[in-house]
Amino acid sequence: MTTVTYSLDEFVHDMNVLIDDKADQEKIFDVGSTQLERLINNPEAIPDEFRFPAGSSNHGSYLLHYGDNGLLITTVVWGPGDHIGPHDHRTWGMIGVMDNSIHETRFRRHDDRSRDDYAELEKDRLTVVKPGDVSLLIPDVDEIHQMDNPGDRPTVEVHVYGTDLRGLERSRYDLETGAVTHFATKKFSNC
Ligand SMILES: [Fe+2]
Repeated sequence: MTTVTYSLDEFVHDMNVLIDDKADQEKIFDVGSTQLERLINNPEAIPDEFRFPAGSSNHGSYLLHYGDNGLLITTVVWGPGDHIGPHDHRTWGMIGVMDNSIHETRFRRHDDRSRDDYAELEKDRLTVVKPGDVSLLIPDVDEIHQMDNPGDRPTVEVHVYGTDLRGLERSRYDLETGAVTHFATKKFSNC
């Protein structure tokens, strides 16, 4: 039997073709998610050093690729019990799970978005995203989520975004008070 593998370099190449051809968001999700599924099904695709929490922390996020066309690829590692509350992304995104699984809770925003510091969210669904599965982040439509790893070993994901998250203003949402706070990713664990 021949083992067909799909490398990170091939994935970067194929995503660049899509983006440089000015594919619309629907096509990026359609074709790109299939390519991401191929990547995360290759256990050799991501070096071991990017599959563990960073240092003494229980979390890791590692830059794998960033290009002038905005394509950003990272791995994100959620240690046992790791959690992040509801937040948004402000760009299209695809998240593929490689190892273990993640509990992803999605929320819908119900207010008229007239206020910068307040939002009404309603829980939409909880999905247990398993190895080989890809979930999509659709800007303004379906992109607010909470992530939890209730397991006893790290969950490893590959994240793909349409722009650099470093310095991009995003929002965190407090479900109890409705308060919205703004934040930006400053750096990744490896740079
Ligand atoms: Fe997120």
